[in-house]
Amino acid sequence: MIRKVTTEPYADQKPGTSGLRKKVSVFRQPNYVENFIQSIFDSLEGFQGKTLVIGGDGRFYNPQVIQKVIRMAAANGFGRALVGRGGIVSTPAVSHLIRKYGAYGGIILSASHNPGGPDEDFGIKYNIGNGGPAPEGITDAIHAHSERIERYLTLDAGDVDLDAEGRTIIGDMEVEIIDPVADYAELMQTLFDFDAIRALFESGFRIRFDAMHAVTGPYATEIFEKRLAAPPGSVVNSVPKPDFGGHHPDPNLVHAKDLHDLMMSDDGPDFGAASDGDGDRNLIIGKGLFVTPSDSLAILAANAHLAPGYAKGLRGIARSMPTSAAADRVAARLGIDCHVTPTGWKFFGNLLDAGMATICGEESAGAGSDHVREKDGLWAVLLWLNILASRRQSVKDIVVEHWASHGRNYYSRHDYENVDTAAAHALMQALRARIEELPGTTVQGLTVRAADDFAYHDPVDQSTSEHQGIRIRFEGGSRLVFRLSGTGTSGATLRVYMERFEADPARQSIDTQQALQSLIAAAEELACIRNHVARDVPSVIT
Ligand code: G1P
Ligand code: ZN
Repeated sequence: MIRKVTTEPYADQKPGTSGLRKKVSVFRQPNYVENFIQSIFDSLEGFQGKTLVIGGDGRFYNPQVIQKVIRMAAANGFGRALVGRGGIVSTPAVSHLIRKYGAYGGIILSASHNPGGPDEDFGIKYNIGNGGPAPEGITDAIHAHSERIERYLTLDAGDVDLDAEGRTIIGDMEVEIIDPVADYAELMQTLFDFDAIRALFESGFRIRFDAMHAVTGPYATEIFEKRLAAPPGSVVNSVPKPDFGGHHPDPNLVHAKDLHDLMMSDDGPDFGAASDGDGDRNLIIGKGLFVTPSDSLAILAANAHLAPGYAKGLRGIARSMPTSAAADRVAARLGIDCHVTPTGWKFFGNLLDAGMATICGEESAGAGSDHVREKDGLWAVLLWLNILASRRQSVKDIVVEHWASHGRNYYSRHDYENVDTAAAHALMQALRARIEELPGTTVQGLTVRAADDFAYHDPVDQSTSEHQGIRIRFEGGSRLVFRLSGTGTSGATLRVYMERFEADPARQSIDTQQALQSLIAAAEELACIRNHVARDVPSVIT
């Protein structure tokens, strides 16, 4: 029986860069989840009788929320729910399921790379029928609904057994529990040369994939160990846990330090990789060399034609504004466009749908292509493996050759996490106020060529997104970007992005932080970071 429940709005249900992300304790307040889910449904039209895909990254509170979503989807009139066994589906796999089965949309329960557990983070994100994150028009409508919600619809029904594959009916809706891995693995097999990659492993090539006790464990075990015959044990931390084993499932050099240390040792494997909580990010480390995500995007784009799925070449590349210009150089060489979008995967969707880009990426360890409408961690790893299987060179040789032929974009991001929100906004405001006077001035020996507050005009839907980060460009191709994170759950996070171009191969092997020294000093001089946010050093350097 459908039940109409009276409720009152919560003031803070504004979706950020990737949906609504808060502490678990916030989501556990009475009706908090229900209000948000109903606000999603009330912002949509025409889903009666249609399919909704539901999946999560396995974090704490995932099963409870999935049951709520199932009951509410049935009460609101969806005809079918496709749910991953155990409530687990990676974000790129949700995107694929929506597309493959022509679903109306999907709900992803994840806080991505943020930690999980009763005192940690949770998140809810809505994806539209193209498989990608809802665009701003929809997320704004969801927020507006959440501010005036008076009732939600649910069903008086018991829990669905999420662990048993098969079909059940609740209300007038069919719930189908499916194998979360099979469809995705099949898709990967259409894009990459699995025989060549298997031959690479058979030749003795070794991989270590760290699933960080998050969603990619089952996917990586099936694909790398079963289908590609990598030795058992190649995938580590492969069992998803509600608290990710107490770690941050964030594939960076801080949280995947063990993997990094192993890859820097003499007896490490040939290739190291990791993914995050929900499986959309990637970390790539060769023997003795960490590949920055910006370089990885450029190298994947330059070599994509070696994989069957991209043998016809790329239609275009897209990168987020803070991502380095290494991809732009590849695009120029290939004679295709490189689109520059604001941070967040949702801006790539229109370009992919319109056939204006084939490969997209962000400096924050995200890369993907038009095979889905999300970034895809395992896709990036498989494309690397396909390239390695085809070129039969080490990761390091491929990267160094790439720098020699295209130039090197030294790149780093400094994050100041959980700083005072008002102070962070004051820092940005102070910089913004000086944008017009900066060009022509010299800071730490660097002359400012241009400065702006990045605004994006979407060439497909003609929408405009403003205040997407302050960009300061210097003579010679160096650049600083300042922006505030849209995904944090406590305080504010200031991100400072530094980039310097070096064309001369003889000067391309300097330590990154060393190479960026004057830019780091210029960032401090321009933004007075220490004074504003009362921190001497960044919390994370990537
Ligand atoms: C961060 C990353 C961004 C990414 C997003 C979701 O957002 O910077 O590139 O798309 O997470 O994974 P931010 O916290 O910077 O707003
Ligand atoms: Zn993620």
